[in-house]
Amino acid sequence: MNNILMIEVSPRGADSASRSVADTLAARLGDLYPSARLVRHDLAVEHLPHLDDVTLRAITTRDPAEASRLKEAARRSDQLTDELLQSDLLVIATPMWNFGIPSVLKAWIDLVVRPGRSFQYSNGSVVGLAKDKKAILVLASGGVFTEGPWRAWDFVEPYLRQILGFIGITDVQTLRVEGMNIPALAADAVPKANKAVADLAL
Ligand SMILES: Cc1cc2nc3c(=O)[nH]c(=O)nc-3n(C[C@H](O)[C@H](O)[C@H](O)COP(=O)(O)O)c2cc1C
Repeated sequence: MNNILMIEVSPRGADSASRSVADTLAARLGDLYPSARLVRHDLAVEHLPHLDDVTLRAITTRDPAEASRLKEAARRSDQLTDELLQSDLLVIATPMWNFGIPSVLKAWIDLVVRPGRSFQYSNGSVVGLAKDKKAILVLASGGVFTEGPWRAWDFVEPYLRQILGFIGITDVQTLRVEGMNIPALAADAVPKANKAVADLAL
């Protein structure tokens, strides 16, 4: 394990359940892999750009002259994609917002899921280019989505697994911090997830 990339999303700082569990995970990873490089991105403060016309052109053009002219517009996406491709382990710690992922995480995904860099089409099917990586999802939610009537409302884990699989990352484990808005479950949710960190296959 040489490179660990951790993407954190919640703007709630010390109150954030997903960040708290991500900290526990970072500590375990630090113990297991003391020489690994850990890069942490705080998307709540980084304000990644949404794709605009010029960035979209810059990261999708097949014309080398245009690519060279638009190099600067592709810079942020290039950096983030390089980081992802160089990582051995990707950690995404995110809240559920309105049953899906916060838009800042979608902005990161839009900047790193790139044709020719992280996926390509070959003979009519897609080939993920982000090979030989594991991912861990730390997912915090007010409700419970692993069982019960709200299960079908979870557009976080299915989406993240699908989009990671699309770019070639299929070894994905999930840590749930759920029930944060349910008084009977809230107090135990973070300690339970912290305990689950110890059981992860790393
Ligand atoms: C804007 C917003 C939207 C939310 N939407 C949902 C939701 O759709 N379903 C849910 O179970 N919880 C929802 N919650 C609750 C959060 O998922 C919960 O508070 C979680 O702990 C947030 O993660 P964090 O503690 O890492 O910030 C929402 C919270 C906010 C602030």
